[in-house]
Amino acid sequence: MSLIQLPVREASARAEKAVQEKITAQTLLAKKQARQPITALTAYDYPTARLVDQAGIDLLLVGDSLGMAVLGYDSTLPVTLDEMLHHTRAVRRAVQRALLVADMPFGSYQVSTEQAVANALRFIKEAGAEAVKIEGGRNRAALVSTLTQAEIAVVGHIGLTPQSVHRMGYRVQGRSIAAIDDLLSDALALEAAGAIAIVLECVPREVAAHITAALAIPTIGIGAGPECDGQILVFHDLVNLTNTTPAKFVRQYADMGALLTGAIARYRDDVTAHNFPSDAESYHLPAAIADTLAAPFATEVPLERCK
Ligand code: KIV
Repeated sequence: MSLIQLPVREASARAEKAVQEKITAQTLLAKKQARQPITALTAYDYPTARLVDQAGIDLLLVGDSLGMAVLGYDSTLPVTLDEMLHHTRAVRRAVQRALLVADMPFGSYQVSTEQAVANALRFIKEAGAEAVKIEGGRNRAALVSTLTQAEIAVVGHIGLTPQSVHRMGYRVQGRSIAAIDDLLSDALALEAAGAIAIVLECVPREVAAHITAALAIPTIGIGAGPECDGQILVFHDLVNLTNTTPAKFVRQYADMGALLTGAIARYRDDVTAHNFPSDAESYHLPAAIADTLAAPFATEVPLERCK
């Protein structure tokens, strides 16, 4: 064996392991069948996507919650296709293992099937998404079927659908027998149309359990109780990087808001008090040049590269 063969073999073994571990639609299905919970989080940028992927989260969603979590809009409605593509590309550069799903923003799939397919293709071809998510139930089944036939994997999203805020508000859905029947019909229609998974948002635990049991494909809950096949949260809710009171279903695992506020205040105080930067945090000239500089009529000083 030559010396250069070893690293090549190691590299290809590593690459093979990564491929084996790569989460796909089939992995999600197998997890449902094995009753292993699917983990999912949103991410909108390179550094957080890297952390989420390296932590072994199965599904990473570039959600249109981007609009509220990152862009400062007061709903998801203003988010544009270009904004979603831009952030999906950044996330793509970070993600190696997780299944990367991109949200189709409001207006990008409602106008016509042709436009919806063209826009969905952009997420796959230009931004590297592996699936798109669209909101809606039976009314989107034909579109899900067309996208699936075009080899675009689709995640459905029913229950509270934030793009319908002006029609349904931000309210828990599926609280009457008729509404539960509707949700179940929506879920079954999306499954029959080829959806690879369905997000259930803000529905009673019992309803989510009922739908989860009725479907062969996985459900991924947010505010839908523990019986869903998987759970998703908005990253900024998880680490308290929002300015709002969290919803009942959010569990905060870190207080990044407090941590960052403290760090920024300490930096401000250090600069104000001439405590930053210190001498050790400064670059220095070689002594001979420093002496020349200190002397009157100093000659030209070579610049040190910042490292
Ligand atoms: O946009 C988003 O982040 C979502 C999740 C809440 C599922 O749709």
